Amino acid sequence: MNITVINGPNLNMLGQREKEHYGDFTYENLIDTVKEHADSRSVDLDIFQSNHEGEIVSKIQTSDTDCFIVNAGAYTHTSIAVRDALAAVSKPFLEVHISNVYAREYFRHTSCLSDIAEGVICGLGIYSYIAAIDYFVHKYSSA
Ligand code: DQA
Repeated sequence: MNITVINGPNLNMLGQREKEHYGDFTYENLIDTVKEHADSRSVDLDIFQSNHEGEIVSKIQTSDTDCFIVNAGAYTHTSIAVRDALAAVSKPFLEVHISNVYAREYFRHTSCLSDIAEGVICGLGIYSYIAAIDYFVHKYSSA
């Protein structure tokens, strides 16, 4: 099974940004941990990060993948373009967040993606990604 992980703006700053929300781990730590977990589940994982909305849209359009795990960062709350790209390719996706967006500012309580996502996982740190991988493994192995 193939999974493409989409990480949006500022996620490359993990380890330096707002540690009270995102913890100490760096983006490289996140990649290593998530890849290691995917390997242990025999998942072929592609992890992509961009600070640019159009690059995220293009990646969604061109990914030859079974499903997506999407942490669109701040674009979650603003981007109809990212939403439209996910709707256009019509592949299952989970929206994930490292922090619990519902325990934060009100503008983070709205998502352009949640209602077309298969599910939403937030507030579990790196484990939000691990849980998303396990969900897809379970879904496709019991299909
Ligand atoms: C985030 C939450 C968003 O509100 C924020 O803009 C981010 C990261 C998270 O993973 O907790 O950049 O998506």
